[in-house]
Amino acid sequence: MDPTALSACLQTVADALPWWLLLAGASIGHGYLFFVGLNVFYGWPWPRRLLKFTRKIDVLFIAFGPVYFSLILDIFGSRSLTWNAGIVLSFLSTYTVLCWFIGFGVAPFFETLYLLRRPAPQLVKETAIAYDVAKELGYQPIGNGKDAKLSTLPFNQCFYVEFTEKTFALPNIPDAWDGLTILHLTDLHFCGTPDRAYYHWVMERCMKDGTPDLILLTGDVVDSEWHHRWVVPMLGKLRWNIGAFAILGNHDAWRDVSLIRKCLRRARFTVLANSWQQIEVRGEPMIVIGNECPWFTPLPDLSACPEHIFRLVLSHTPDQIAWARQHKIDLMLAGHVHGGQIRLPVLGSVFVPSRYSRKYDSGTFFEAPTLMHVSRGLAGQHPLRFFCKPEVTRIVLRKKRMAIVSEPRTQ
Ligand SMILES: [Fe+2]
Repeated sequence: MDPTALSACLQTVADALPWWLLLAGASIGHGYLFFVGLNVFYGWPWPRRLLKFTRKIDVLFIAFGPVYFSLILDIFGSRSLTWNAGIVLSFLSTYTVLCWFIGFGVAPFFETLYLLRRPAPQLVKETAIAYDVAKELGYQPIGNGKDAKLSTLPFNQCFYVEFTEKTFALPNIPDAWDGLTILHLTDLHFCGTPDRAYYHWVMERCMKDGTPDLILLTGDVVDSEWHHRWVVPMLGKLRWNIGAFAILGNHDAWRDVSLIRKCLRRARFTVLANSWQQIEVRGEPMIVIGNECPWFTPLPDLSACPEHIFRLVLSHTPDQIAWARQHKIDLMLAGHVHGGQIRLPVLGSVFVPSRYSRKYDSGTFFEAPTLMHVSRGLAGQHPLRFFCKPEVTRIVLRKKRMAIVSEPRTQ
């Protein structure tokens, strides 16, 4: 299309729409672009300082967006897109058009896709009970973490833990595994807030529904230089019938890694790191795999891993879903993204540190052959939870009986 004609067309659209709608569309597009960019950036193992710096700059840019659109460019007052008055104004006009395209088209399209997501078809039953742990303890378990004061903000749900039970009907498990229970814990973030009593209460509550067959811990156990001391007293409260396995996450990677692994082993967990093991579950073989990438490399080597045996993977981030599908993983458990921690009513999560942005923020997803469960986790570096309660998940496996279709008899 002729650039002059396109410019005239865009100017006609700008003239036809009210200024507030143009401002809103451009600001939404600008904010969406920078939030998605930040989410994707956070999906990579950059140094922590760079991540923090980028987040601050990103938030500044987002906040500055409406000011830029309404004051500096002044296209809403003069209603004139400027293409021929120097490279800067041409660039700004082009950027404004790009933001309109994202704000009026791309963002609503992906928001619709996000809201239309449905749980994996293997999820046949889900129940949830939320507990106000502060009420159970008789006081607010604020503790002495660096950002403890954030936990006192009104409507903060950081002490409301939701215990969910999810039943998955799977056709490819042995009959003996019908009713197998897996307790999935993730993102404990021991750092002082919540305090010890909160975790004690949660671990004891985990055991009240019966001893699980397996316990799987998918990383971000510790979030300070001191609180590895909590690993044994907290996780030592857990019991299991068959085994307990753990991997580390990005927040562990920023601490004394060997010390955290040592503490987990003292709590009787098998620390998989990026490796796999074959175990026996009710007399049948199962492959349990750890995947701590991208913060710990290399990826687990499955070249010697037997095929045609059920593969269960613990991955800190749901971003490893593509790797899981490639390696024919049957069930993958992940955490890391905390459900976004702050969710907006109707719209959902905003900041989700993932290369897929908000796509896998929490819940169950099936991308053949992999069924993935992403937990919102139990805590976070910052004790902030709005419309996003901390979560502990108990998974129950059920053998899905396939209907036997008999051939019609011929006379
Ligand atoms: Fe985390």
